Amino acid sequence: MRKKIIAGNWKMNKTVEEAVELAGELMRGYAEQTAVDVVLCPPFTSTKAVSDVVSESQIRLGAQNMSAEDGGAFTGEIAHGMLKELFVRYVILGHSERREYVGETDGEINRKVLKALEKQLRPILCVGETLEQREAGTMEQVVEQQLRGGLQGVEPSAYTELVIAYEPVWAIGTGKTASAEQAQEVHAFIRKLIGELAGAEAANAVRIQYGGSMKPANAAELLGQPDIDGGLIGGAALDAASFGGIIDAASEA
Ligand code: 13P
Repeated sequence: MRKKIIAGNWKMNKTVEEAVELAGELMRGYAEQTAVDVVLCPPFTSTKAVSDVVSESQIRLGAQNMSAEDGGAFTGEIAHGMLKELFVRYVILGHSERREYVGETDGEINRKVLKALEKQLRPILCVGETLEQREAGTMEQVVEQQLRGGLQGVEPSAYTELVIAYEPVWAIGTGKTASAEQAQEVHAFIRKLIGELAGAEAANAVRIQYGGSMKPANAAELLGQPDIDGGLIGGAALDAASFGGIIDAASEA
């Protein structure tokens, strides 16, 4: 059985004070909860403060990006060692917003995935098609290319650490969720592809999150699908009650 994983991607939201408040509210309900892996990914400016709030709890910390470099003259970048110093365990890589606005390529994302794994950080590798690509019928091709590119050189044994997030771009922040059936179909496709890339054991072990307008009202149905192992949550993660509602749905799924 794969343990469900619910991660909040706070994106470019929350001051330090607001981040501490939200983490504190979640601590009141979920500090000792172990049925589901819960991960908070605040912006870098709040990482240290949130780390202090959730330390000694079951809530884990994630980052929204990481450099593939170890350190040095890379203005504006954050290295793995800086994240590990703050007890960050997970790192979101290849989010569609970074692919689109910063122009991150599969090759760059792959270097980050390999670096994260080498340094014992768990990558959350994001993939997903745009509305245009879905309508053109190239959805599977797009997702396959992102996965083959992003996962090059990943050892089969690493798939227990790695998380994949399927985030259809047309469902992100739009209020349009993929139906449970649509999402399950792509998740099953991704798991089959991992089987081809890394073998049956890896395919069975890898956790695949759904992301895109997940909220308490639709979480149970999505998380009840056989190949949906969690959620990567944007908007609904900014509020303790709605994020908590999704965690509750995951623990009952
Ligand atoms: P929303 O939940 O706001 O649609 O965002 C999803 C997402 O991009 C999480 O990484």
